[in-house]
Amino acid sequence: MTVRRAVILVGGKATRLLPLTCNTPKAMVPILNTPFLEYAIGYLRQHGIDEVVLAQSHLPVPIRDYFGDGSRFGLRISYAIEETPLGTAGAVRNAERYLGSAGEDCLVLNGDIFSDINITDMIDFHLSRRAKVTIALTPVDDPTSYGLVETDAGSRVTRFLEKPSRDQITTNMINAGTYLLNAEILTHIPQDTSYSFERELFPSLLGRGEAVYAYPSRGYFVDIGTPAKYLGLHHDLLNGESSLWAPTAKTDVGQHSCIHPSVRINRTKGAVLIGDNCSIAADVQLTGPVAIGAGSTIAEGAVLEESVLWQNVRVGPRAIIRKSVVANDSTLNAGCIIEDSLLSDHVTVRQGARIEPGSRIWSGETAG
Ligand code: GTP
Repeated sequence: MTVRRAVILVGGKATRLLPLTCNTPKAMVPILNTPFLEYAIGYLRQHGIDEVVLAQSHLPVPIRDYFGDGSRFGLRISYAIEETPLGTAGAVRNAERYLGSAGEDCLVLNGDIFSDINITDMIDFHLSRRAKVTIALTPVDDPTSYGLVETDAGSRVTRFLEKPSRDQITTNMINAGTYLLNAEILTHIPQDTSYSFERELFPSLLGRGEAVYAYPSRGYFVDIGTPAKYLGLHHDLLNGESSLWAPTAKTDVGQHSCIHPSVRINRTKGAVLIGDNCSIAADVQLTGPVAIGAGSTIAEGAVLEESVLWQNVRVGPRAIIRKSVVANDSTLNAGCIIEDSLLSDHVTVRQGARIEPGSRIWSGETAG
């Protein structure tokens, strides 16, 4: 027996990533020019999952348009849509009809996690213990702002501890948003009701003495829920701190892109990735880690440092962009300066404008 089905939770509102996520669901946010969810799906496939259910609520259409029936990605994808968000556990209950015959265990994944948790090993761990639930754990440096999971010597969960004070800390292992569930567990989740794994289902199972286990993982783990973590993941991938994407060359250039010979590329802190159909004009300076999405144009003398541009971004002559994220179809006119900021899609920044560091500019706005 093994586990072949997974539910990925992709229905959250992603408020912490606003305004990048006004029109783009968190699962479609690009990581090195590829939608985030494509990594998760590829990863599950490597671990023998051949059916994925995407549990959706907020902004379902872009995900469905991109992934379709899954055949392009080598597995079957179905969609379970909630009319109103049902929370993490409620969303899985809503997907029940896609989860096969009774008795089959399934994997559940938060749709914003980038990790190298060994899913195959976790499945063996779960099945060999006949666990009702297995929760993957990952260590953090400062446990005070997380929900901690305490276990006994046999890896059975003994306590959930929400945001402990320093003197309460007994572990630095937190819930990694990756679970294996015995099918029977679904009956403990109320139907058509908002219900959470972390706050409701797991503590209640523990209270009833059910076999809840924890699978410790010490590999790479990040959730892309905040702008700092989103940029941090790019930095880790582009400077080789995560092996999940090993740059084949220091500069990767997509098809049909043209880079003027005078472009200066500084790779001391990380690689520079240029998507398909981009044009990088004379005297542009690129200081990695940088990712430039397909169809973007960078005009002469512009400076781009430690930033991520999504698709079809137009950067005018001598514009300066540092430590920022710019979403699809935005135009940054000549000589503007943007630092530590998040720009949504279809934003225009006026010529010569100096955007206040820390700005968040919303879809369709003209700034400066
Ligand atoms: P924030 O608003 O920034 O907290 O982001 P979020 O809405 O994504 O919430 P959170 O990061 O806590 O969610 C963890 C994962 O669960 C993400 O992959 C969400 O898409 C998903 N999720 C959260 N709530 C729901 C829900 O009600 N329904 C579904 N289907 N997924 C959800």
